[in-house]
Amino acid sequence: MQIRKYNRLTDESKLMKMIEDEEGWDYTSETLAEKYKAALQTSITYVAFQDDEICGYSRSLDDFGEYIYVCDLLVKPAYRGKEIGRKLMECIYSDYRDQVVYVMSDVDGYYNKIGYKRIGSIFEVPRK
Ligand SMILES: CC(C)(COP(=O)(O)OP(=O)(O)OC[C@H]1O[C@@H](n2cnc3c(N)ncnc32)[C@H](O)[C@@H]1OP(=O)(O)O)[C@@H](O)C(=O)NCCC(=O)NCCS
Repeated sequence: MQIRKYNRLTDESKLMKMIEDEEGWDYTSETLAEKYKAALQTSITYVAFQDDEICGYSRSLDDFGEYIYVCDLLVKPAYRGKEIGRKLMECIYSDYRDQVVYVMSDVDGYYNKIGYKRIGSIFEVPRK
């Protein structure tokens, strides 16, 4: 398994297909797909490969060079439980050593399990 930075030309269609196959991930919907493709390019995006197949990815945002927020982390079902998720996270720590890395969690149990410390929570601001 190898992890490297995302390359739009070689990875975009494979990655969008992997996301499309994941239940509950709607980034490939008609309204979001083009915006999400642009976001993959402008974010800090890593892809994990096994042979020629994308088996996982992460997408993160850089906040003024001090903090990194991991927004998306996904491992293809057939590849889960092989520490690809943990390794995708570790790539960010090792490439951005001077920045604090936070992850926006939808799966607290997972991050607890891999030893991350909960430090806050997120609220949606209601529209008036
Ligand atoms: C969460 C996810 C990225 C983990 O990827 P992974 O490569 O399988 O993770 P790792 O191999 O590093 O760790 C696997 C361990 O975490 C556990 N784990 C996975 N999801 C979990 C969850 N939601 N709650 C608790 N533990 C979880 C597994 O049971 C496994 O435990 P084991 O080693 O004792 O069998 C992957 O399950 C996934 O893509 N899930 C769907 C998308 C998602 O929820 N992404 C996170 C959004 S913030």
